[in-house]
Amino acid sequence: MWQTYINADSIEQVTGILADRGGRAKIVAGATDLMLEMEKGVQKGIEILVDVSRIPGLNRISEDNQGNIHLGPLVTHNDCVGSKLLREKALPLVLACWQVGSPQIRNRGTVAGNLVTASPANDTISPLMGLNASLTLSSNTGQRIVPLSEFYTGVRKTVLRSDEIVVDIFFPALRTNEIGIYIKNALRKAQAISVVNATVIVAMKEDRIDRATVTLGAVAPVIIHATEAEEYLSGKVLTDEVIKIAGDLTTKAARPITDLRGTADYRSYIVGVLAMQGLEKIRNGTEAETLLDNPPILRSKMEDKESLLGTGEISQATPIITTINGQKFIFKNGHQKTLLRLIREDAGLIGTKEGCGEGECGACTVYLDDATVMACLVPAPRAHGAQIKTIEGMTINNNMHPVQTAFIEEGAVQCGYCTPGFIMSSAKLLEENPSPSDMEIKQALTGNLCRCTGYYNIVRAVDKAAKKMREQ
Ligand SMILES: Cc1cc2nc3c(=O)[nH]c(=O)nc-3n(C[C@H](O)[C@H](O)[C@H](O)COP(=O)(O)OP(=O)(O)OC[C@H]3O[C@@H](n4cnc5c(N)ncnc54)[C@H](O)[C@@H]3O)c2cc1C
Ligand code: FES
Ligand code: FES
Repeated sequence: MWQTYINADSIEQVTGILADRGGRAKIVAGATDLMLEMEKGVQKGIEILVDVSRIPGLNRISEDNQGNIHLGPLVTHNDCVGSKLLREKALPLVLACWQVGSPQIRNRGTVAGNLVTASPANDTISPLMGLNASLTLSSNTGQRIVPLSEFYTGVRKTVLRSDEIVVDIFFPALRTNEIGIYIKNALRKAQAISVVNATVIVAMKEDRIDRATVTLGAVAPVIIHATEAEEYLSGKVLTDEVIKIAGDLTTKAARPITDLRGTADYRSYIVGVLAMQGLEKIRNGTEAETLLDNPPILRSKMEDKESLLGTGEISQATPIITTINGQKFIFKNGHQKTLLRLIREDAGLIGTKEGCGEGECGACTVYLDDATVMACLVPAPRAHGAQIKTIEGMTINNNMHPVQTAFIEEGAVQCGYCTPGFIMSSAKLLEENPSPSDMEIKQALTGNLCRCTGYYNIVRAVDKAAKKMREQ
């Protein structure tokens, strides 16, 4: 693990540290990739983690007067899901972000982190490639702009230097005649990386396709274009036959491997099917049908000024000072732990559970600065200056939270190991949406796994709590 942790307060500070410390310092944003990579030994020799997640102003999504959309390096997947601008002008990216992990992962995981991790199965790369995105990279020696199409050199390899930070992701907004979609094939509907994915964007001229872009994920070492399909589609009307031929040409473009998620043949076939589905949905005007109008985000909005609390270097000499359930804690140890272990071992609050330790099960869900997160993926020093809420802090005037009561009444608890995580996610959902539909409840709970009760009673309990809270 790391020796020193720095909660940075500016880009200049970050590039200064990266320049001074060479490859021994590493940027950390949401930590959803990096924590696991360090734990599994994929990332070795990191002495200093430079946490950029408190630098103000880096989570902005904006459009400039030349029609380019800009994403700051701290824009999370949930920021994209909640952005009206992106829904209107970059739908494929929103559809991709909506399918990343679970709400807790989407609250911390950034688009920049997803691009830099550079797995060809990552969700945001094929839509951003389809949207013709570029990255602005900054270092102590200046800035350079790299088109995303030139950023990747192989599986998990990019041209990013160890002294550089991504400071901007930008791309032309879709025009009114352009329609796009992103479709993912995975082994589960949530918390699953792509077996393959495809982005299809077409520019229409009356009823014909003027220009088409088809980009494919997880069928080659880097994201690729299905060039023959793109060329074929130009000038065509989207008939069933045209869609079928475009699907076949997409299959032909794939050069996948066989791995535990799927065979090469399956991947080639299914990516053609995804392209056909995408074209069909575009033809039918149903490209946005998988997005909810009010998607559960599971976080409250923090002000920029609040995020600045807790910046500075956190090492053994400086205690982690944090607030848990309204009470101030000063931790002199635990600097190289996860937040989950800090909460359980050092604060003695053992209601928050460890199920998987990999962000998969949600048993460790807590609120970090009012957002649901997987505490097993948060480095403990990120808690310095933060507000944390755990299951122990959920009572209201010494009474159980209505969600807790409803779980008991509806038999939504058996062994109870998963229950604290479910309560945290459910209560946050009801804060942001007092009348959730069944689908919204299910989506909000996609990051929480239960191995014994099953989900019917849990969904019923959340619905019951919602009704009770509305009546109060
Ligand atoms: C349970 C689970 C489920 C997941 N599901 C999915 C999924 O369905 N689809 C998917 O695509 N991904 C998934 N992921 C992967 C992950 O959440 C994403 O890749 C995430 O977007 C990474 O962003 P981060 O901010 O957490 O990156 P971090 O972990 O903080 O960093 C990742 C890498 O990017 C670098 N980095 C971060 N920001 C910058 C920057 N601004 N400039 C330069 N370098 C930077 C870091 O140094 C590091 O090398 C999942 C992860 C988990 C744990
Ligand atoms: S998600 Fe953190 S312990 Fe399983
Ligand atoms: S109640 Fe046992 S795992 Fe959910």
